[in-house]
Amino acid sequence: MLLALETSCDETSAAVVHQGRVVSNVVSSQIRLHAEYGGVVPELATREHLRNLLPVAREALSQAGVAVNQLDAVAATRGPGLPAALRAGFNAAQTLAFTLRRPLYGIHHHEAHLYSPWIQGTPLAAQFDQFQPNVSLIVSGGHTLLILVTAPLQHRVLGGTLDDAAGECFDKTAKLLGLPYPGGPWVDRLAAEGNPQAFDFPRPLLTDPGHDFSFSGLKTSVRYFLQKHPGLAEDRKALCDLCASVQAAIVEVLAAKTVRAARQMGVSLVTASGGVTCNSGLRRELERRCQRHHLELRLAAPSLCTDNAAMIGILAERQHEAGMAPSSPDAEVIPGWSLE
Ligand code: KG4
Ligand code: ZN
Repeated sequence: MLLALETSCDETSAAVVHQGRVVSNVVSSQIRLHAEYGGVVPELATREHLRNLLPVAREALSQAGVAVNQLDAVAATRGPGLPAALRAGFNAAQTLAFTLRRPLYGIHHHEAHLYSPWIQGTPLAAQFDQFQPNVSLIVSGGHTLLILVTAPLQHRVLGGTLDDAAGECFDKTAKLLGLPYPGGPWVDRLAAEGNPQAFDFPRPLLTDPGHDFSFSGLKTSVRYFLQKHPGLAEDRKALCDLCASVQAAIVEVLAAKTVRAARQMGVSLVTASGGVTCNSGLRRELERRCQRHHLELRLAAPSLCTDNAAMIGILAERQHEAGMAPSSPDAEVIPGWSLE
């Protein structure tokens, strides 16, 4: 029985996992709090984590019907993320592990995302018996990564963003259009009513042979476009067309490069997770391209696309079972931890 905590950004989450099964997964989102400021305010995020962590952990234990002294191990996100936010969860986990004399697993947040597409079913369980080597796309507000996963616990980063993350591009576009934060879901909703071919936006690095991404130029071209067409966003039809056109540009780059990487790496499976994987256009486009190239596709369930402790727990338990060394009792968080 393992308790996992996740506090790297603006979700406070705790989960209990046991033998690959997610027994409970409680997520308390701070989105509404940060919306007022148009982005995550680190000090507020930390304050909320400190306020919510204990109730959230207690709720996860209670839903699982587990007492703390029944835990065999504790895990928490060690990085990357907001330094003080990470510390809130990691230090709590450290104290608990020390008090219970149990091992503590300090987990890499992005590595954990790789396993969320494998958590499926009712009840939620990791389907590692169906594991196949895959190319995994992790797309959220803070990260855009393409990773080759050869076996559970074994991966190699193929590429990442050179500037903005894909979610950032969605959010900044939405901000330019006067939509609330976080803008990704708004763009998605409005895009559903728009024509994706109405306006032509660049597809950065689409034909570049590497596996990296770049989204800041696309965001800038939306800004210039709006300067040239003032008032356009006030017209509902034009707003929907604009959202559909920008979304089409982001989604084409993400889906095309992911599928191309899978084919180049010789794997037959594509997986995806992270908040942007909730985007209906991206889910559709990945499906379409995977089908065309006879690739299998495993998308994280929308509730597990965004940050959660279930994925942290599933990975930590796997490390525990594989006999990997836990973190040392005086380990520190690693806010800038990059995946290798
Ligand atoms: O994984 P996540 O919850 O947090 C991190 O950034 O780690 O991802 C949040 C990001 C935000 O940029 C949000 O706008 C984006 O995911 N997002 C979406 C959608 N839902 C969430 N972007 C596009 N379409 C969506 N439906
Ligand atoms: Zn994340």
